Amino acid sequence: MVNTNVSLSGLRLDNPVIPASGTFGYGKEYAKLYDINILGSLSFKGTTRDPRFGNPQPRIAECSQGMINSVGLQNPGLASVIDKELPELAKIYEKPVIANVSGFSLEEYVECAKAMDDQRQVGIIEINVSCPNVNHGGMAFGVLPESAGEITRAVKKVTKKPIYIKLSPNVTDIVSIAKACEDAGADGLSLINTLLGMRIDIKKRQPVIANKMGGFSGPAIFPVALRMVYQVANAVKIPIIGMGGVSSAEDVIEMMMAGATAVQVGAANLVNPYACKEIIETLPRVMEALGIENLEDIIGCVK
Ligand code: FUM
Repeated sequence: MVNTNVSLSGLRLDNPVIPASGTFGYGKEYAKLYDINILGSLSFKGTTRDPRFGNPQPRIAECSQGMINSVGLQNPGLASVIDKELPELAKIYEKPVIANVSGFSLEEYVECAKAMDDQRQVGIIEINVSCPNVNHGGMAFGVLPESAGEITRAVKKVTKKPIYIKLSPNVTDIVSIAKACEDAGADGLSLINTLLGMRIDIKKRQPVIANKMGGFSGPAIFPVALRMVYQVANAVKIPIIGMGGVSSAEDVIEMMMAGATAVQVGAANLVNPYACKEIIETLPRVMEALGIENLEDIIGCVK
């Protein structure tokens, strides 16, 4: 019998599989399909201080081996997430969750993180400094070591729970940003968010997405994500949640061998709503075939 448990900043997860923020809502729709308590944890849709309607339609473009989204951080806002969504989530999911928070100013990140820190079911706060779909916020804070470090320091001052900074791949040197977050007190890192991409409708001679560009995700980005997880894992001591195109148990193992302690599954949920369930169920068989007894033993085993 293999052991799929992993430990993430003191949280013991039954397995490393976590739906990525923005691909699983607050779990409601998926809970109608299967018991979501099998998940290692769940990162719910990014919260901003104010409700957001999101970007104009169309927001989605299909691509080979992936998709582009430009959702624009649509969410009901901090008060509604706390008063309505989290109590509903607690009825269908009993384990600690990951609160992904976004903002348009340092003060907004601080306010959202502080409020999430007070929520009983929140086990980790994931600070999203990497959303490519909004102006003057999101990714703007995550593309420089100085601003990523500043957000980390400010959020750490008002929270007790582990802070994970979600990093953007749309940078020249992700390692320098990861190190700045670690130096500023981050407890962990989540990487990677989506790659800025674009499609053109050649009949209409215009971008497919109303906002012109959006975040590219799906299996096509897996090698890029893996490379970045590997580079960052070799430069920092804090744990990493790896993500980017993960769609199978083999991908989970590859991410962990590169240095991830846990793994988020994003676009795959939108193609197959049972993706996380299937990965969790397949994982022990793949571990057995590879002679892996304890999943934690493989973290960063590739040098
Ligand atoms: O547009 C969005 O809501 C995407 C968010 C993200 O990639 O972090």
